[in-house]
Amino acid sequence: MILVTGGLGYIGSHLVVDLLQDNQEVVILDNLSRSDITVLDNIQTITNKQPIFYNGCISNVSILQEILDNHDITHLMHLAGFKSVKEGEKYPELYWDNNVNKSITLFEYLVDRGLKNIIFSSSATVYAPSDEPLTEDSPTGPIPTYGSTKLFVEQILRKISEQNSRLKITILRYFNPIGQHQSGLLQDNGADNLYPNIKRALETNSALSVYGSDYPTKDGTCVRDYIDISDLTKYHKFFLTNSTPGCEVYNVGTGVGRSVLEIISEFSTLIYEFKDRRSGDVASLVCSVDKLKSIYKE
Ligand code: WQD
Repeated sequence: MILVTGGLGYIGSHLVVDLLQDNQEVVILDNLSRSDITVLDNIQTITNKQPIFYNGCISNVSILQEILDNHDITHLMHLAGFKSVKEGEKYPELYWDNNVNKSITLFEYLVDRGLKNIIFSSSATVYAPSDEPLTEDSPTGPIPTYGSTKLFVEQILRKISEQNSRLKITILRYFNPIGQHQSGLLQDNGADNLYPNIKRALETNSALSVYGSDYPTKDGTCVRDYIDISDLTKYHKFFLTNSTPGCEVYNVGTGVGRSVLEIISEFSTLIYEFKDRRSGDVASLVCSVDKLKSIYKE
């Protein structure tokens, strides 16, 4: 069975739906700090399957013990974590405690009890700013606190891998996940992400704030590599059976960079206004997908 932490979140819920529809057996662990219990019903509505759900924190060892006592967990997909660049700048200690300390407890407990397969949701924000497409060997050097927490967890996983040669650890560096399930039941309510904010601006006929117009990019606005959520979940499924002993990192993006203004141009009725740069943002984050494409088979 696959333990998905953060399985009621935006990415987690899409992943759970994809896994269930692939007839995988899934256990969700989510403390509902950034998600809503109604997502569980929505997952059942979409898949006609009742996922096993535990309401709790990833560092609650009594819940982890209950999960292992009752289910044969073969894989951990660790998606639980706070993910707002803006919030991480405002509350760094919260991000370090939640994203790092709690992940350490989770890994230690599960690996000590025999877990062999880990897929970790990391982020493009671990990289140092670069105008070039980022490869997995590009220098890391996160600007936002959020990215620093993700890089630290990656380093912890590498240490765990060095001590456990049989472990298969796959680190997926997500670029910018976008899109939603066709049912509309699995929303991205990201606190301050571009696409949810575009949706809110259109629904309320209000102006979208564009954070910065003076970046050294094609049109002065930030460039990102936006990947559809369905592609993201597809890669997770691939690594269920294609991970190798050790600790491997893969960029998960499209290799194509689009600026904020290019995204906005897709919404003809969207009103927008330029605002100051947002703390923690970098000008460009676009990946090279050569490594992923070199092994991925549909
Ligand atoms: C994108 C661009 C903003 C909102 C995300 C996730 C993070 C990680 C990396 C996975 C930036 C601009 C945004 C708005 C704007 N993903 N923007 N007005 O910051 O790249 O981070 O991808 O780990 O979890 O949050 O994404 O959507 O917040 O911003 O101008 O109202 O859009 O400045 O340049 P970001 P984002």
